[in-house]
Amino acid sequence: MRIDIITVVPDLLKSPFEASIMQRSISKGLVEVHFHNLRDYVTDNYKQIDDYQFGGGAGMVMMIEPIDKCITKLKSERAYDEVIYMTPDGETLNQGMANTMSLKKNIIILCGHYKGVDQRVRDHFITKEISIGDYVLSGGELGALIFCDAVIRLIPGVLGNETSALTDSFQDGLLAPPIYTRPADYKGWKVPELLTSGNFPKIEAWREEQAYLRTKERRPDLLGDD
Ligand code: ADE
Repeated sequence: MRIDIITVVPDLLKSPFEASIMQRSISKGLVEVHFHNLRDYVTDNYKQIDDYQFGGGAGMVMMIEPIDKCITKLKSERAYDEVIYMTPDGETLNQGMANTMSLKKNIIILCGHYKGVDQRVRDHFITKEISIGDYVLSGGELGALIFCDAVIRLIPGVLGNETSALTDSFQDGLLAPPIYTRPADYKGWKVPELLTSGNFPKIEAWREEQAYLRTKERRPDLLGDD
């Protein structure tokens, strides 16, 4: 997968791709990430990328021209499956969306700033608008990072143990069950005996039950029970 991220603050984005799973996906050749600084697409001397709103009102708006230039240049080089805009009024990111996006080949992510982008950018270039939750960030960059992490770990070959993404919370519509590791007894706090019994069918049944109970208690909305 190739991800092109358009931003006014590339420095905010780089280091998370230099560590852990996202770094590994790049060094394995499974993911390519490219950063594009919008200021490089501005022609005037002041490198202006934002301006006042028509009609008045507080807050600056990102101008269409540098964004058009950047997206048009990228699209002239290859075909893109999606042009995503990170915005609090987009569709809320969830595991289903991350699964769908992990199958895409080339995507562009535009990070908004200030009050956001000129509506004409959204009308003419954007194919999908994504929010990471009902709160407002200073810009789309941190949202883009969360989106990339959630998507990249689902690309086949990225995680060492292929099954581990399949048993994540939300993958089967439920939260994950409790997990334990050694020691089996720590200061008298014991691991459920069944888990050390070697009875794998029973362990599987226990995990399914625990996942259901945890979901019912913490996220009844996922069961349609709220
Ligand atoms: N930009 C600002 N707030 C955001 C949010 N909640 N999700 C995605 N992008 C954003």
